[in-house]
Amino acid sequence: MLKKILLGFALLFVAIQFVRPEKNVSTAPPGPDDFIVRLAPPPEVKAMLQTACYDCHSDNTRYPWYAEIQPGAWWLKQHIDDGQREFSFSGFGAYSAKKQAKKLSALIDVIGDRTMPLPSYTWVHRDAIFTDAQLKTLITWLEATQEKLADEN
Ligand code: HEC
Repeated sequence: MLKKILLGFALLFVAIQFVRPEKNVSTAPPGPDDFIVRLAPPPEVKAMLQTACYDCHSDNTRYPWYAEIQPGAWWLKQHIDDGQREFSFSGFGAYSAKKQAKKLSALIDVIGDRTMPLPSYTWVHRDAIFTDAQLKTLITWLEATQEKLADEN
């Protein structure tokens, strides 16, 4: 009986490997609406955002090893879909001035209180955990950018 159940799971595991969601990758370089292209953050800020946020909130995910094993890719796809719906770094420039301002304060909130990146993500992506110093650099830049955008509009 147990053997049959285990065999059933093994077969199921093999079968689900063939169901692969479409990948979220873009071969084109980031366009003018991209957050980083538009706001030109210093290299350290750029690197932090790309490392910790772009996988779920942009048009271009760097697929990790676990995405090659199901249900890893399904899990990631769900997060990319949900993440993109809430906020896209790739499409930032296309938001209205009001929405850009709103999203900038949301960024400051979620980075500041460490709700983003999601804990389930940093569990695997240890390099996406910011040190206190990094967090400060990031928030300082985001706040300065917020003021700059407010002045422009
Ligand atoms: C593993 C995927 C993943 C990563 C990595 C990730 N996010 Fe998210 N993010 C989500 C999902 C899913 C949601 C929507 C559901 C939720 O809020 O939990 C979301 C929601 C958000 C929101 C919307 C909250 C609001 O009130 O508008 C912001 C802003 C955000 N993320 C910013 C970031 C930033 C900044 C980073 C990097 C520091 C980041 N996220 C990293 C998946 C991710």
